[in-house]
Amino acid sequence: MTEAVIRVEELAVRFGTSPPIFRHVSFEVRRGEVFIILGGSGCGKSTLLKAMIGLIEPAHGDITLLGERLAEATGDARRALLRRLGVMWQSGALFGSMTLAENVEVPLEEHTALPAEARAAVARAKLGLVGLGDAAAKLPSEISGGMAKRAGIARAMALDPPILFLDEPSAGLDPITSAGLDKLIVDIARGTGTTFVVVTHELQSILAIGDRCIMLDKAAHGMIAEGDPRKLREESTHPTVRAFFRREAA
Ligand SMILES: Nc1ncnc2c1ncn2[C@@H]1O[C@H](COP(=O)(O)OP(=O)(O)OP(=O)(O)O)[C@@H](O)[C@H]1O
Ligand SMILES: [Mg+2]
Repeated sequence: MTEAVIRVEELAVRFGTSPPIFRHVSFEVRRGEVFIILGGSGCGKSTLLKAMIGLIEPAHGDITLLGERLAEATGDARRALLRRLGVMWQSGALFGSMTLAENVEVPLEEHTALPAEARAAVARAKLGLVGLGDAAAKLPSEISGGMAKRAGIARAMALDPPILFLDEPSAGLDPITSAGLDKLIVDIARGTGTTFVVVTHELQSILAIGDRCIMLDKAAHGMIAEGDPRKLREESTHPTVRAFFRREAA
């Protein structure tokens, strides 16, 4: 079996004194796969993502990233570890006053000592990879929503992270643009060996690009399914899982 690049064990997250958003969440993400986190609005998908990249302290459980236990990584070691993760947030905002190329250069300025010419070359390469080679000098206000998502992915890839986290990359896109984005994700995953963790509830996307998935559920306060989405669609007997994958009323 391919090596796990992320291991989540018995994870629980709560905010303040309220009951946990989820608990007993355990799964592995393997190198090079497209791993999907799905579930209804408010079940904790973004929260799980934030816990996985060290932005939220879990109430319980353990997260291992690229062989290192997150809880034990502190100071410079933690910064070095988290630098190896690329993230595109749900809001996905680009800096409005900067061109797409300048946006991609931001992480390079923050985290590397590359000279300006080298930064510009990396930005050109990353924008080329997502099909925006001709749009490098455009401002975010001059491009479409689909292009902005792709630029967001280019920026998340600036530091060549082995793992990319995307929170609802296709939200708000038309089906054709969304399918194009799916293809881009698969092409990058297969072409570069990058591991993807993608939050989405677009069934078409999940079936098209997901190697494996987990499903979170608000009522269950945790995971209700794990595995190959195509198998879950055929075989799951859980009413909520069936309802989602077969578009049936639960
Ligand atoms: N910082 C926070 N403080 C308190 N509660 C929070 C915080 N962040 C999230 N929550 C709560 O945790 C729950 C899960 O939120 P989360 O954003 O993870 O859901 P989600 O599955 O990503 O939903 P969506 O599909 O709408 O993006 C919600 O009830 C939310 O109100
Ligand atoms: Mg969310």
